[in-house]
Formats: sequence, C-alpha cells, structure tokens
Amino acid sequence: MATKRIVVLISGSGSNLQALIDATASGRIDGRIVSVISNRPDAFGLERARRAGIKAESLDHKTFASRETFDAALQSLIDSHEPDLVVLAGFMRILTPEFVSHYLGRMFNIHPSLLPRYKGLQTHQRALDAGDAEHGCTVHFVTPELDGGPLIVQAVVPVQAGDDANSLQQRVHEREHEIYPLAVEWFCADRLRLLPQGVEFDGHPLPATGHRLDA
Ligand code: GAR
Repeated sequence: MATKRIVVLISGSGSNLQALIDATASGRIDGRIVSVISNRPDAFGLERARRAGIKAESLDHKTFASRETFDAALQSLIDSHEPDLVVLAGFMRILTPEFVSHYLGRMFNIHPSLLPRYKGLQTHQRALDAGDAEHGCTVHFVTPELDGGPLIVQAVVPVQAGDDANSLQQRVHEREHEIYPLAVEWFCADRLRLLPQGVEFDGHPLPATGHRLDA
C-alpha cells in the first residue's frame, strides 16, 4: 500500500489543516500533504502549510469570470499533484457538479453540524435556536448535493446551559480536529470506500449515520 498523496483546500484559518499536518507528521496517517490550495490569498492556513514545509498555493476566485472557469482551473491545479484524496478543510465555495463528479469517492468535507441537520451556514446558532440537546460535526464524502454526501464519522457535542454560538463553535472545532484526521487515516489505510449503495468500512457497509463518536 503506497503512501497516499493528499491535497487540502482551505479558505481561512486552517485549524483542521493543522490537525492533518500534525497527524501526517507523526506518521499516524500514511499520507503526505502534497499541496495546500486556498481561494483566498490571505488565508492563514497557507502560512501553516509553509511553516510545515508544504507547498502553499492560492487561486483567487475573484479573478475568474465564472464558477465554471474557476473550478476548471482549480481542477487542473489539483490534478497536477496527482492526489489520491482531496480534503476540503473550511473551503467555503459551492462546487460545480462537474468538479465534484471528477473527485467522487476521493473527496472529503467536514461540516460543523450533525448532518443531515443544518446544512449550509450558521449551524451553531441554528442548533441553539432549535433548542437541541446535541450538536456536533461530520466528515462526509462530497457529492453534488451541498453537505449531502454519505457520512463517514460524526462527533457529538452536548449543548450546555449558557452556551452561545461562540462557545459551542469552539467545542465543535475541538472535535473536528479529532474526527478529520481519523477519517483521513482510515482512507489512507484503504479502509473506506464509496460505493453506489453507500460507504463501505473494512469491507462492510457503514450505517447511513456513519461512525458516531459520543461526547
Ligand atoms: C470548520 O468549522 C469547518 O467545519 C467549517 O469551516 C471551519 C473551518 O475552520 N466548514 C464549513 O462550514 C463547510 N460548510 P478551520 O479553517 O479552522 O479549519
């Protein structure tokens, strides 16, 4: 089994990227991050990549006339690195179906909610407004449906009395840093596969809820 080549896409701070850098550096993940690409040239995550000696590239979406032309350029940049896995780590762009189909079965996203609840933005506030007792985060395969792909792993974060969106977000973030390296570790060990009927883990179908890590 060859060490997997990973490309990470970011738009911002890159704390999930950092968790992946740490888990590859320690040898826990049998993979190498071959490039970090940001659609925002000033994203702090690019600095994290440089500090770790990883190629850091930016492709500013504002310089493209359309979503289609940006995604096509992004796809050729990613493919120049011949990745086995593309990891969306706070990459805040809606992707074209063509782009998503090209990476089907080899692209992950992390989302700050217990999907299928709260697709989209403002997930922490929406969980609070609904009076949920539990919130959390999810790693899933990316399919053309926004935040709708088959689930791999979720971590549950109990909502505490007095939580606001910030405090809840912080605790969810901590658990994101736990489950993203875990999912990437599984993929790089050839333990995860996306099949037409759903996700397979160690040769067995995963339930639609994915793995669930309780609080
Ligand atoms: C994370 O909380 C991630 O779940 C979220 O962006 C944040 C990025 O933080 N992603 C989405 O909302 C995607 N829909 P980071 O830059 O510190 O990793």
